[in-house]
Amino acid sequence: MRLDQLVYSQGFGTRRHCAGLIAAGLVAVGGRTCRDPAAEIAALAGVTAFSVEGRPWLFHDRAYLLLHKPAGYECSQRPGAWPGVYTLLPAPLRQRPGDGKALGVQAVGRLDQDTTGLLLLSDDGAFIHRMNSPRHHVPKVYEVSTRHPLDEAQVGRLLAGVVLDDDPRPVRAAAARAVDTHHLQLTLTEGKYHQVKRMLAAVGNRVEALHRSQVGPLVLGPDVPEGEWRWLTAAEVARLMAAGRPTGSQAS
Ligand code: URA
Repeated sequence: MRLDQLVYSQGFGTRRHCAGLIAAGLVAVGGRTCRDPAAEIAALAGVTAFSVEGRPWLFHDRAYLLLHKPAGYECSQRPGAWPGVYTLLPAPLRQRPGDGKALGVQAVGRLDQDTTGLLLLSDDGAFIHRMNSPRHHVPKVYEVSTRHPLDEAQVGRLLAGVVLDDDPRPVRAAAARAVDTHHLQLTLTEGKYHQVKRMLAAVGNRVEALHRSQVGPLVLGPDVPEGEWRWLTAAEVARLMAAGRPTGSQAS
């Protein structure tokens, strides 16, 4: 790949700007300054190291990111009252030009402003589609703090299925376990709007705090503190892609 294309593809500005950075001697590959925009670089995802204006960066042909979302951030591309989750990413990740299907790096599904936990982001349209598609039931695990004490009947109803106001078909939890009187672990395979909050309301309880701890096989660990992000490994992306169970019908 040409060096100017490589730098452009990683989100360092327009093609013209990237060519200018290179010509000005502000780009180094493998630690050596390269002033030739047309220089051919063997670009390997997660391996090829370069720097722009002294900022070290690793080439990734596609971005697959895990963000530990804090409360007080919106997943919308045009946030209103709260800052967007994208402000938690460095500028090159916000500026990546995208692949024609996805417009730059996007959140894979949404978490509410007050929900914390594991949020995936990517600029790979096929990956985003696979993770979001109702035909691929990627399980998501939520840690739910409830206002009222939980009882067996509530947990039973969540597992049996509850009807929400926008669809007559019941939605059911794939798994539900009361961890203690006010803490429930809930696994869902769909992603309806405010689904956890609406399901808890439907069984007569209320969500006080919501945290997503797992998506498919990917568990949010202590290595990513709140507000921080990391690249997914190629093995993690492959396991996420395999996690979806195509069925041709909705779970409910
Ligand atoms: N369900 C909700 O109610 N909110 C979220 O943020 C995620 C799932």
